Amino acid sequence: MKGKSSIEVHNLSVTYQNVPVLWDIDFSLPQGQIIGIVGPNGSGKSTLLKAIMDLVPISSGFVKIMDKSLGLVRDLVAYVPQRESVDWNFPASVEDVVMMGRYKKNKLFNRLTKIDKELVQEAIAKVKLEKYKDRQIAQLSGGQQQRVFIARALAQGADIYIMDEPFVGVDMATEKTILDLLILMKNEGKTIIIVHHDIQTVSNFFDYIVLLNTRLIAHGKTSETLTGENLQATYGGQLNLLTKIQTLIKAKDFPLREEGFEDK
Ligand SMILES: Nc1ncnc2c1ncn2[C@@H]1O[C@H](COP(=O)(O)OP(=O)(O)O)[C@@H](O)[C@H]1O
Ligand SMILES: [Mg+2]
Repeated sequence: MKGKSSIEVHNLSVTYQNVPVLWDIDFSLPQGQIIGIVGPNGSGKSTLLKAIMDLVPISSGFVKIMDKSLGLVRDLVAYVPQRESVDWNFPASVEDVVMMGRYKKNKLFNRLTKIDKELVQEAIAKVKLEKYKDRQIAQLSGGQQQRVFIARALAQGADIYIMDEPFVGVDMATEKTILDLLILMKNEGKTIIIVHHDIQTVSNFFDYIVLLNTRLIAHGKTSETLTGENLQATYGGQLNLLTKIQTLIKAKDFPLREEGFEDK
């Protein structure tokens, strides 16, 4: 398994109304790591995930997942969309939403088995929402809503998890819950791909990064790829923040996530 890629993207371009938002993107991602898709707002990150999930038309190129087309491995891939893109007023409880993760593998309207129900409870426990499982999703905080989505993905039992900005609008406690969970998942051999726009936290969160701004700027191990030059190319104008990051990198003052792994 080692060395085999989880997702391959070849010569991918996507245009909206003739304007390219992704241009000739080409990369392959490793398995079993926590991977960040990083770039400023509007750089095409969400579009890239949607193209991988076959949710937007592709102008050119193709995507392979575990060396196959998505249609053949759909159950192995769990997609967690951006929280703001969802209508949270839909009347459903936490448990209802997490159960949807199981329905994918069963026929719609089939009764869930005892095992399905156990997996749902397990997923709810993993994101620490046991106390809220009967609550309507409209009544949850942003961080709780994010965790509901992650629980639904966990219930699906996928091998590859693709999440769009899971750390946006969540409190520190939720951020920690999510991060701890991602590390557990990684230790179980899962591949986790996360869209993220905050460069301050990149070196803490990700083993591997893809730097994106309509074009692919760079991809590789975070320790080798998160350079001032690459950040400059990705974030361009946002100089104040950049200066700060460059200083951090020069001082080698950013903790590498591996340090935390041993005590897990
Ligand atoms: N459905 C759409 N129709 C037209 N333009 C879109 C659509 N979705 C996104 N865009 C545009 O495509 C660009 C990339 O968007 P997106 O992939 O959401 O970026 P990111 O997730 O990096 O913020 C943006 O300029 C955005 O305005
Ligand atoms: Mg986005």
